[in-house]
Amino acid sequence: MKIISVVGARPNFMKIAPFIKAIEAHNKVSGDKVEHILVHTGQHYDDRMSRAFFEELGIPDADINLGIGSGTHAEQVGNTMIEFEKVLKENKPDWVVIVGDVNAILACSVTAKKEHINCCHIEAGLRSGDMTMPEEINRLVADRISDLLLTPDRLSSENLRKEGVPESKIKFTGNIMIDTLENNRKKAAGMSITDIIKQNAVNSNEFKMNGNEVPDFALMTLHRPSNVDKKEVLGPIVRFMLDEVCPERPLLWTIHPRTRKMLDYFGLLDEIMSNKNLFVLEPLGYLEMLKLNMHARVILTDSGGLQEECTVLGTPCLTLRWNTERPITLTEHGGASVLVGNNIAHIREEYHAALKKGRKPVSPELWDGHTAERCLEEILNYKAAL
Ligand code: UD1
Repeated sequence: MKIISVVGARPNFMKIAPFIKAIEAHNKVSGDKVEHILVHTGQHYDDRMSRAFFEELGIPDADINLGIGSGTHAEQVGNTMIEFEKVLKENKPDWVVIVGDVNAILACSVTAKKEHINCCHIEAGLRSGDMTMPEEINRLVADRISDLLLTPDRLSSENLRKEGVPESKIKFTGNIMIDTLENNRKKAAGMSITDIIKQNAVNSNEFKMNGNEVPDFALMTLHRPSNVDKKEVLGPIVRFMLDEVCPERPLLWTIHPRTRKMLDYFGLLDEIMSNKNLFVLEPLGYLEMLKLNMHARVILTDSGGLQEECTVLGTPCLTLRWNTERPITLTEHGGASVLVGNNIAHIREEYHAALKKGRKPVSPELWDGHTAERCLEEILNYKAAL
């Protein structure tokens, strides 16, 4: 069997790594080998957004890089389709496997189906209900036309059923990103927080930690257009951090390229860079982020993946969004995350509540580190059932 799997942007890399390992393990013991081709669309191209993850997660170099780069959504999707069609015509795979919700999944699922190639979506069925999110449109299209929908939780399977997806297409296999977390927990635990800060510092503050002291810091990531593209939204969030978080404890802020550009454009970057308790960091590697997550007192983020990792690690998490496609991570479903939108009164209230909470790790069903094997099995079985 020949499988082409596709990655495009940072959150894809931790999802594809275990899938590739599952293929390698299968090929070691089975006479019926899987031929695998890894395609990178090139949406994320900076070393820190892409190459670093390949290296530390042991992902082999992409066989094909489409070199799409930045652009409007239509440019990214359109250019990916044009280039991916050539790849499919030349390689004629049995399956195209897509992961997550970035632009690559929309472009590549449509292209695959037009070439009459089976398509499997890993992390299917997530729904925010928010059509202003580009990722929601990507998910809806990919799930509507894919042949095999592998879901991370039962709520996602239920979403697909409600949309009329036939039962035979829906398989609950668990959360593949947690495979990567489990594979890397030990390695991350051995890292040094001060070294991580030193090696990724954008401003020149020195983070001091004495001996066995339990660190007390807040950690923030922001990248969604809804939070960073408007000054009237980003400005008050920055003020809250500078005026209310930084005077109490160090704030570690790992800055996405989009956010950095916007902070600069709005004239907010200088004050951030010069605050003595705000540690501005480059985009971190996977292990570095995992280590900081293991120790953060509270995380403020708009990343879906971090919401999930916080749930497994038990880190109190304020999600700066009004909705989530990952309700299983919310405290009302037993997770660690609370939706706070971008309303400052709300953020303040939940920030203080989070500080009082302890770390409470939970493991949702099938977030057990073995999802990739189940995903591959479903693809292989699907073929057998034809
Ligand atoms: C993308 C994904 C989002 C994911 C996020 C994680 C879509 C629709 N969005 O959003 O789901 O959560 O990645 O990071 O696919 N840039 C660089 N260097 C890079 C990559 C991007 O400087 O390596 C710049 C681009 O020039 C652009 C901005 O960052 O100005 C945004 O990049 P883009 O790929 O459009 O979307 P993300 O916001 O990263």
